[in-house]
Amino acid sequence: MSKKNDHLYQKDFEYKHRNPYHEKLSEFDEFVMRDNESEKYPGVWNKEVFDREAPLCVEIGTGYGHFMLDYCEQNPDVNFVGMDFRFKRSYNLARKLAKHPHKNFKYLRARGERIQFMFEEGEVDKLFYFFPDPWPKKRHHKKRLFQQPFLEAAYKVLRPGGTLFVKTDHSGYADWMVEVMDKPEALELFDIRLKTLNLYEEAPEHYLASFQTKFEKIFLQKNDRIKAFELVSKKQ
Ligand SMILES: C[S@@+](CC[C@H](N)C(=O)[O-])C[C@H]1O[C@@H](n2cnc3c(N)ncnc32)[C@H](O)[C@@H]1O
Repeated sequence: MSKKNDHLYQKDFEYKHRNPYHEKLSEFDEFVMRDNESEKYPGVWNKEVFDREAPLCVEIGTGYGHFMLDYCEQNPDVNFVGMDFRFKRSYNLARKLAKHPHKNFKYLRARGERIQFMFEEGEVDKLFYFFPDPWPKKRHHKKRLFQQPFLEAAYKVLRPGGTLFVKTDHSGYADWMVEVMDKPEALELFDIRLKTLNLYEEAPEHYLASFQTKFEKIFLQKNDRIKAFELVSKKQ
């Protein structure tokens, strides 16, 4: 992990920015938490935030929100936390979420690098990370979220047997992910239940082949192969 990105993983990190959509997101205070607000509830998401016991599912990089909107509708019995760091995209998704038929979600304008400060040890059931920005240029690789510190954070917050689901269109980022997950320090944390560079050919029956996100549909129209991974926590 480069020094530049290190600070995102530090406890004392503070979000700093000026963006008009940050203020506008306060229109949705009922279900939106912004920046460090998202780190006030580790250990009490179910008990205090959702006020009910249910599997806690978390999506990093919700984008336009199609997966989150559908998943919350199809799975009313889960507590769902979506997050994205883009401001305007977050605002537009909050507007859609405000009209959602269910109330089984919260939305964070926040960064996936911070999950270990948002959630308590073993609190999360499933983590979703779909079509992340690939940061193709070599000098930007350090910005890729999928690195050992992220896997350690994911391992911390996932319950024993909890799962990290990943899909990407990008060959370079997929190869990078494989390299990260195949390292001994990663294999100590996770079993790799699915590792495919061609999801729909090689694992058409897998859960990850049962839905397409907004970005995925665009890539499929271009005949891109979808790469997909399922990592299961080895925590006892
Ligand atoms: C290419 S879009 C994919 C959106 C959606 N998952 C889909 O498949 O349609 C990637 C999204 O992830 C968000 N994102 C990227 N890195 C992130 C991070 N570290 N934390 C939170 N959101 C992130 C971006 O802002 C963007 O909205």
